[in-house]
Parts: sequence; C-alpha cells; structure tokens
Amino acid sequence: MAKVVGYCRIQISGGGFGSGGCLGFEFGFCWCDMEDFILFGLARALHVVGVVLWIGGVAFVTTTLIPSLKKMPDTANRLLLFEQLEGKFAFQARIVTLITGLTGFYMLHYMQAWERYQQIQFWWIHLMTLIWLIFTLVLFVLEPLVLHRRFKMMATKNSDRAFALLHRMHKVLLALSLVAVFGAVAGAHGLLL
Ligand code: HEM
Repeated sequence: MAKVVGYCRIQISGGGFGSGGCLGFEFGFCWCDMEDFILFGLARALHVVGVVLWIGGVAFVTTTLIPSLKKMPDTANRLLLFEQLEGKFAFQARIVTLITGLTGFYMLHYMQAWERYQQIQFWWIHLMTLIWLIFTLVLFVLEPLVLHRRFKMMATKNSDRAFALLHRMHKVLLALSLVAVFGAVAGAHGLLL
C-alpha cells in the first residue's frame, strides 16, 4: 500500500494531534494510506470551493441585490426580478450545499473527529453544521413548500415590508456564515482553542 508519513497527522486545536487517518506509527510519526490522504485533501479543497460559491452568493444577494431592488419604485417589477435572479441562485445554492455537507461529513469521518460535537472549543464546527442545517431546510423544504408562496403574497400586499424582512433575514445568515468561516479557518489551522 502506498503510504505517506507524517503529513496525515491531524492537529487538534489546543495542542496535540489526533489519530484520524493514522494506520500506524513509525519514528514518532503517524502514517496513513496515500489514497485516503489525497481524498481528504480533495474533500477539503472542494469544501472550500463550495463555501466560496455559496457564502459569496449570499453576500452578493445581501449587500447588492436586495438593496438595489429595495430602491426600485415599480414594486411588481421588483418582485419579478427578484424571483428570476434568486431562483437561479437557489439552484446553484442547492448543489453547493450538498457538496459542502458531503465533504464536511467526510472530513469528520476521515479525522475520526465526531467527538468534536461534544467539545465546546469546537464551537465553529457546531456553527458550520447549524448554518448548513438552516440552509438545507430552507432550500430543500421550506422554500419550495411554504416560503416562496408566502413571500409572494406578502410582497404583493406590502412590498417594502416584505423586502425589509427578507433583507434582515439575509443579514443575520450572512453574519453567522462569516463568523463560521472565520472560526473554521482559524480553528482548522490551530489559532483557536
Ligand atoms: C454539514 C456541515 C459541515 C461540516 C460537517 C463541516 C466540517 C468541516 C470540517 C471537518 C473541516 C475541517 C476542520 C479541520 O481541519 O480541523 C471544515 C473546514 C472548514 N469549513 Fe466546514 N463543515 C460544514 C459546513 C460548513 C459551512 C456551512 C461553512 C461556511 C459557512 C464551512 C466552512 C469551512 C471552512 C472555511 C473550513 C476551513 C478550511 C481550511 O482552512 O482548511 N463549513 N469543515
């Protein structure tokens, strides 16, 4: 079996190294299967690409699209344009949410790091998972079944109010997502306890 020595050690925040992916030890180093190690690296890279597309899209919708729509005087056109643009992004968001979730759970499995869910210092893992759960619920269940219809009704009755509420929800989700990205990068590279 092709093996890689040393690099497969997974650093646990707050010191020490975990044995995720470790198949044995030689000269104080852990070794692991090269193919698994490459898969882990690919999963991490895909995870970050998914996050960039997903949270980048949420940032664009929150800081640019919704504020521009709020300034449009023609409320019927505002709703139409929002539905066309957000509908396209929702499709992309569904795909990247799947990729981010699959790669995230694969990394936890590879690192044998499920117990992080029981440790408060890994709050950023909890936050990442919570954000993923919220978006998954919204994109796959609530939006197609309830939210789309409810928002259309609300925006037809009182467009300014509907878009203000929509903007507030996006701001909260974007802020939480950015804290999660900051915490994840800092935590994964040993900066946070
Ligand atoms: C099911 C949901 C998710 C799971 C299970 C998950 C799991 C993971 C794991 C295990 C790592 C590697 C940690 C380490 O190396 O110690 C990671 C890294 C990361 N995750 Fe997630 N994640 C999820 C969702 C998210 C979301 C929603 C975001 C963005 C808001 C995110 C952003 C990141 C970032 C930026 C990194 C750091 C990559 C690096 O610097 O190496 N993840 N995630």
